[in-house]
Amino acid sequence: MSASRRLDGRIAVITGGAQGIGLGIATRLAEEGASVVLADIKQTEAERAAARLLASGLSAVALPVDIGQHESVKALAAEVDRRFGRCEILVNNAAIGMDTHIETMRVEDYQHVIRINQDGAILMTMCFVPLLKKAGPGRRVLNVASIQGLRGWPNQLAYAAAKGAIVNFTRAAACDLAEYGIAVNAIAPGFVDTPMSIQPDGSHEYDSDWFRDIYVKYGRIPMRRFGKPADMAGPAFFLCSDDAQYVTGQILSVDGGASATF
Ligand SMILES: NC(=O)c1ccc[n+]([C@@H]2O[C@H](COP(=O)([O-])OP(=O)(O)OC[C@H]3O[C@@H](n4cnc5c(N)ncnc54)[C@H](O)[C@@H]3O)[C@@H](O)[C@H]2O)c1
Repeated sequence: MSASRRLDGRIAVITGGAQGIGLGIATRLAEEGASVVLADIKQTEAERAAARLLASGLSAVALPVDIGQHESVKALAAEVDRRFGRCEILVNNAAIGMDTHIETMRVEDYQHVIRINQDGAILMTMCFVPLLKKAGPGRRVLNVASIQGLRGWPNQLAYAAAKGAIVNFTRAAACDLAEYGIAVNAIAPGFVDTPMSIQPDGSHEYDSDWFRDIYVKYGRIPMRRFGKPADMAGPAFFLCSDDAQYVTGQILSVDGGASATF
């Protein structure tokens, strides 16, 4: 990381900012001078993360939100408006993982994944457009999609459907919001080592033999390693920076080359 503080004075709201990729992105944006809002359903974890950033001399606050609930999203937007009066950067990162197969998936599980992973990002953007329009230069929405929004994947039906929707939501919102100088882009991470990849029994998804064989031994991740949250932070910063001012409606894969192989 080489902090240039090119985001000085900008307010950045990151959903799911308490841990994993969201915290990795939030940390980089804060190192670049942004005041970051860690907006998360896990309030205690978000407060701890914000305290760590503050202790490093960065500007951070934790605010609660359940992005699957419209009232909660509206309350977050109202609180950000009250505290800051604007928002330059919105990062729609929060999501949940769930294995779902088309033959066995419960309708309630499907709807739950869609409500959080798809509707959550769309509701957040709808509620934050007024704050983005009140912001200074550098207005950005960054969605966190997934390689699973670009490729088929077994046993991931609901998650993949939601991430595919995020990909095209990014393009459609970019068209609607360009007239306000708001760029809308996405990163599509590949396989990243975060708490999301820890299985219910405590084992690590990416430690399983079959996963390592297919994706590392047989080269389906050409860079032959899984990603880290910090690997997502640089591309996310680029898309949130003034260097990307003529970039909108784009999906940037950040996956060690995985999407180039299939
Ligand atoms: N880890 C991967 O391999 C991977 C790969 C591709 C894409 N992604 C995407 O990256 C993003 C971050 O994933 P991660 O791996 O860091 O996951 P994670 O589980 O470590 O973090 C997700 C964060 O979102 C929060 N969250 C969940 N539901 C929420 C809700 N309803 N309202 C508010 N906050 C909520 C959680 O509390 C958590 O802090 C997600 O969009 C995920 O789909 C992850």
